[in-house]
Amino acid sequence: MTQWIRACAADEIDEEDLIRWDHGGHSYAIYNTEKGFFATDGICTHEHQSLDEGLVIGCVIECPLHGGRFDIPSGKALSAPVCTDLATYPVRIENGEVFIAVG
Ligand code: FES
Repeated sequence: MTQWIRACAADEIDEEDLIRWDHGGHSYAIYNTEKGFFATDGICTHEHQSLDEGLVIGCVIECPLHGGRFDIPSGKALSAPVCTDLATYPVRIENGEVFIAVG
């Protein structure tokens, strides 16, 4: 069953940026992009690198370790060395708060 969890206030995430959010032993990345808010797994699928120091370019996240890129809305791996997609999670904004559907 889908569980919506409050993650943070929407204004805690700068435009074209992301934050790391840890919940239930899992690390998520929450993005504020030109197309709205999105959430993916917070750890790169190449090696165990947190994406929170990565660069948001439009709707793409670039991993800070080796520069692999993912499409943020779909989690799709876009460029070497990443070849496994990131999991994505539904996001809802309510009264300026960001909620993520986990599980
Ligand atoms: Fe992310 Fe290598 S750990 S591209």
